[in-house]
Amino acid sequence: MIHAEMGKLDVQVLREAYGAFPSGVTALCAMIDGSPIGMAASSFTSVSMDPPLVSICVANTSSTWPLLRPATRLGVSVLAAGHEPAARLLSAKTGDRFAGLGLEVTDEGAVLIEGSAAWLDCTLFDEVPAGDHSMLLLRIEALRTFPDQHPLVFHGSKFRQLAAV
Ligand SMILES: Cc1cc2nc3c(=O)[nH]c(=O)nc-3n(C[C@H](O)[C@H](O)[C@H](O)COP(=O)(O)O)c2cc1C
Repeated sequence: MIHAEMGKLDVQVLREAYGAFPSGVTALCAMIDGSPIGMAASSFTSVSMDPPLVSICVANTSSTWPLLRPATRLGVSVLAAGHEPAARLLSAKTGDRFAGLGLEVTDEGAVLIEGSAAWLDCTLFDEVPAGDHSMLLLRIEALRTFPDQHPLVFHGSKFRQLAAV
């Protein structure tokens, strides 16, 4: 039996359905007025090879995205296993979101988290309104991957690690 009909979706059931799809966790960060600003985002998806585009969906309620929007470059770090304290920190409402984190800052102001599985140095290609979120299309201008770093996994509201099968 299907749980709910379209138009009558219970928010909790919808959250569970979205949470059934495992994802990685990224950190979207840039230098703004001399300080690092950023947020954790699990809505990252690869979109296009040519041009190289990825997407991240940010909530319309986010107070961080409006600060990041004018940045020349936006860093996207694919967080690694062991980064779960960093993911929590980067989503905290209060306190220093970068406390204890090693940062790499590019000349153009992208902020990247040390120990990540991949670094993407991006420009904002487009921002598409999508319900209570905006879909950011980010164009990759430069990148670096760290194949030995296993990614952090987010599934069912819990942080996990990949296991080989
Ligand atoms: C694992 C994880 C994934 C998250 N993914 C997203 C996301 O994809 N989009 C989003 O807008 N917020 C996401 N958040 C919440 C933000 O990191 C942050 O808490 C939120 O934007 C509120 O802070 P702000 O008002 O400073 O933006 C995520 C948080 C966590 C812990």
